[in-house]
Amino acid sequence: MSTLAWSADLALDHPRMDGTHEEFVALLADTEAALTLDEATLLTRWTTLCEHTVEHFGQEDRWMQATGFAPENCHTFQHKAVLDVMLECAKRAREQADFEPLRLAVGELAIWFPQHARQMDAALAQHMALVGFDPETGRCAVTLDGNGEPLREPALEPITGCGGSSCG
Ligand SMILES: [Fe+2]
Ligand SMILES: [Fe+2]
Repeated sequence: MSTLAWSADLALDHPRMDGTHEEFVALLADTEAALTLDEATLLTRWTTLCEHTVEHFGQEDRWMQATGFAPENCHTFQHKAVLDVMLECAKRAREQADFEPLRLAVGELAIWFPQHARQMDAALAQHMALVGFDPETGRCAVTLDGNGEPLREPALEPITGCGGSSCG
């Protein structure tokens, strides 16, 4: 049994994001299962996970761009830092046959992902719900409160924090 399995408490009530996260957890479990197999299989599965993560993070980064976040916000910054490490692990394994960083990173990702999902991704899902962002159209709806007033004013300044409880 893998260290991290998909469960309802990882869901963020955002079907597109939850679907991507469920795929991520499954690909990470496939990679973890390959830790006891041959290195070629391990590298293939890790590469698939990296390719999925490029899309996963890219999708969230595009959603942030579309809903008022600054390009250099801390959530996007964390995506870049994590993806850089993942790609470096793949490079070390492929070019130097050094699998130690990759093996370590599999376990680290299983610890990192639930924290990231519950903080930064949860805050993004909540933000998209507040501005009525539709990922299918890339548009924000104007949501009105009981008095017919917009529920949330458009941000005057680009958002640089992730909106998570740990972020100022
Ligand atoms: Fe995510
Ligand atoms: Fe994220």
